[in-house]
Amino acid sequence: MKKKRRKKINRRRRKQILTAVKLLAAGTAAAVLLLKPAVLCNVEEPAVISRVPRSEAAEEEETPGPQIDPEQPMIALTFDDGPKASVTNRILKSLEEAGGRATFFMVGSNVAANEDSVNQMVAQGCQVGNHTFGHKYITNLNIQELETQLGGTNQAVLDACGILPMVMRPPGGKTDEASLNELAEMGMPAIMWSIDTKDWQHRDAQITIQTVLEQVKDGDIILMHDIYSATADAAEVLIPALVERGFQLVTVGELASFRGGMVPGQKYYRFYP
Ligand code: NI
Repeated sequence: MKKKRRKKINRRRRKQILTAVKLLAAGTAAAVLLLKPAVLCNVEEPAVISRVPRSEAAEEEETPGPQIDPEQPMIALTFDDGPKASVTNRILKSLEEAGGRATFFMVGSNVAANEDSVNQMVAQGCQVGNHTFGHKYITNLNIQELETQLGGTNQAVLDACGILPMVMRPPGGKTDEASLNELAEMGMPAIMWSIDTKDWQHRDAQITIQTVLEQVKDGDIILMHDIYSATADAAEVLIPALVERGFQLVTVGELASFRGGMVPGQKYYRFYP
């Protein structure tokens, strides 16, 4: 790369390349998706992740996961605020039995004590996500605090399982321009949700199950929390029930890859067909 061109690479691109190198070291196909814009384009437009068709991306994977049929309905179950082994492991077992995957938006301060659960997520093809280090509303933070909260969780997850989170869920769903800009800098989109089970509020498995089964449709992102035993109770019923109804349980990244992709710093509530 020529010196002149090298100078044009801005801070965001350097972070993305660094991320991609780490992912490559971890043998992750996402690294290829991140590196491609830098290698092929030489422009400073936002990196588009997960826009490569799954079939192409799958060739890069060491151990291809279960095949996803793009013609069939798919949804993303997401679990926030963990990991907490006593709950998270029950959800993971249920996913494994049903052949499904989910996305876990983790609070960084919970990660080190629950490393086995984090590694099990990765082993099952689940996606690891960032939910700040101390469950902070990112709208209340200055840039330095934002970098500590987001970077601290990325580092904790990387240390635990060797994978750098590529998606972030803002606590309380709160975002503003400054926090979205920082997410763009760090190469992460903000993942919201289209079905809110409010499991944290009522802690009633039946209400969680009913809320999901009454509303669920192709492309939904479903919000739950893997720190309550009632949520594990609900997940153990919901996961096989959703598969029985014909839904493919995929990660947020997988869902996005079939439905237009994601751009860092943007918010996504759903990926409807
Ligand atoms: Ni939360």
